[in-house]
Amino acid sequence: MTNAISGATSGHELQALVNDVYEKYLSDTRGHVATYIPELSKANPDDFGVCLVTADGRVFEAGCCDQPFTIQSISKPFTFGMALEELGREKVLEHVGVEPSGDAFNSIELQSGTNRPFNPMINTGAITVTGLLHAAHGNGTFEHLLERFSAIAGRQLSVDQDVYESERRTGHRNRAIAHLLLNFGVVHEEAEAALDVYFKQCAILVTCRDLAMMAATLANMGCNPATGQHVYTIRYVKDILSIMFTSGMYDYSGQWAYRVGVPAKSGVGGGVIAAVNRQLGIGTYSPRLDAHGNSCRGTEVCVELASRLGLHVFDCLNVGSSFIDALL
Ligand code: DON
Repeated sequence: MTNAISGATSGHELQALVNDVYEKYLSDTRGHVATYIPELSKANPDDFGVCLVTADGRVFEAGCCDQPFTIQSISKPFTFGMALEELGREKVLEHVGVEPSGDAFNSIELQSGTNRPFNPMINTGAITVTGLLHAAHGNGTFEHLLERFSAIAGRQLSVDQDVYESERRTGHRNRAIAHLLLNFGVVHEEAEAALDVYFKQCAILVTCRDLAMMAATLANMGCNPATGQHVYTIRYVKDILSIMFTSGMYDYSGQWAYRVGVPAKSGVGGGVIAAVNRQLGIGTYSPRLDAHGNSCRGTEVCVELASRLGLHVFDCLNVGSSFIDALL
């Protein structure tokens, strides 16, 4: 396969490409399963799945695409989108910035001057966003959130109770973050309750195929390609993808932009999503992580797919929406 946007490709060729990339990285065993949330250490380090969902809903996958695992930080762009939809840009940006932090996902820091978290992809920003949703929905916040996430994935999702309780018991650093936010008035008195929703949203179970479908919903301008349900209005999809592009891979975001050139988000459960605007969603699952908390295989698979399909946003061959025409 040379280039999917040349017009020469077909569904079959994309499947062959996915198989090929899967086989190539199957033997890559670099990295370590996350253990700081004790329950996550039970993941099978060998699990590996790669899935592409096109913006018109076709699925190409290889490996372990039915194995449930927790979404973790991949929940963050989706709650950010919910907050934008429900509260508007102005209110959300009063509470959280859009600047890459250059620091780790769990760093305890706020922007000087404004005391806002740098962006909604790191823990300070994500807990703030969940706090905003909690201020609007109170006790019903998590049910509301799960319903929206299910619509994005196109099927009913559920929570891994053990992972949730494991992080609730041991998440002292996030608790410190919530109290820092409380101190600066970024979140209000219900900080503990908001933190609890944050822990639960991170424990939502997804498969690699769900992730690809969720990414495809972003790629398809906020409309789930399988169900046809509009989950986000178009105007906010741009906001979500921009922050994923600049901050979704934390302190690897610059290298990711350089090597992959596609908005993405990782989670310590081992998932990665990448959304190619108007074209396709990529989901990968492999729980061995690098020092940034990003899946090692997930990174390499995305680099390879971006290169072989010409997906990088600045690749001269990436002609955006005509990708789908090339598949017909
Ligand atoms: O807050 C945490 O530490 C986890 N629930 C989520 C972190 C995460 O997924 C970072 N991503 N790679």
